[in-house]
Amino acid sequence: MEVIIQPNAELAARSVADLIAQSLLVKPDSVLGFATGCTMEPVYDHLVRKHQDEGLDFSRCRTFNLDEYVGLEVKDPCSYHYFMCRRFFDCVNIDKRNTHLPDGMADNLEAECAHYEQLIVANGGIDLQLLGIGQNGHLGFNEPLSAFRSRTRVQTLSRVTRAQNAPLFPKPKQVPRRAITMGVGTILEARRCLLLATGVEKADVIAKAIEGPLTAMVTATALQLHPACTIILDAEAAGSLQEGDHYQWITPEQNGLPIASKYVSSQPGGATPLLAVKP
Ligand code: GLP
Repeated sequence: MEVIIQPNAELAARSVADLIAQSLLVKPDSVLGFATGCTMEPVYDHLVRKHQDEGLDFSRCRTFNLDEYVGLEVKDPCSYHYFMCRRFFDCVNIDKRNTHLPDGMADNLEAECAHYEQLIVANGGIDLQLLGIGQNGHLGFNEPLSAFRSRTRVQTLSRVTRAQNAPLFPKPKQVPRRAITMGVGTILEARRCLLLATGVEKADVIAKAIEGPLTAMVTATALQLHPACTIILDAEAAGSLQEGDHYQWITPEQNGLPIASKYVSSQPGGATPLLAVKP
């Protein structure tokens, strides 16, 4: 697990966008796993800017989102479909036929989940999976006690999650009770995972996810098992890490990792400064 602590949320989001852009430059038909949530908004903004200003090409990439609410129409402004179209798909040269989100309106939700898994396999698996983290440590909508080997399925949302997401709905009661989510096992099969967390409210759960014991009660701890996982934080989200000093002490050079060139930003302002790295 590689932990990168940036001074602020803006630089953290920019680092994530740089990594996604790199993946596309190396492999223009990358299969990208996308995430939603407020944390991701500046990442999509950066990617849109890279498309507009630098010609970053999305025409050949394929995308799979982590999750979608059950019972919300694609056109519902609270659906993740709507979020992805408005914040990203409509703003770049992506072929919408290559974008995928689970269909929370499907008549047969179980069949839809199985179909989603098949589609990921048919596209060759996910190259780079972007992840946020819920305040209860969930990835996607894998609520506490989700098995590490779980697959795409319908999940009943916890009270914590419904409360966390309530501000995004006109009325708290309108937050759906269920969602379709990729499973933890599905996520772990991505060739690379990239988690972004920012803000002080994520500090405690990030410390559990990175430094805590593996537990299905905090599904993000499963990422400790992933062979190629990068976690990018701002200083606030890194605030409860016990070994924060240690990560800062380990320099990219000591690790022999070509980090400096890996995270060079193409935005004006030059290289994105790195504060901490853990192998
Ligand atoms: C939702 C999503 C998660 C996301 C989480 C965090 O629950 N299903 O994938 O990580 O929100 O959202 P935010 O970035 O708004 O804190």
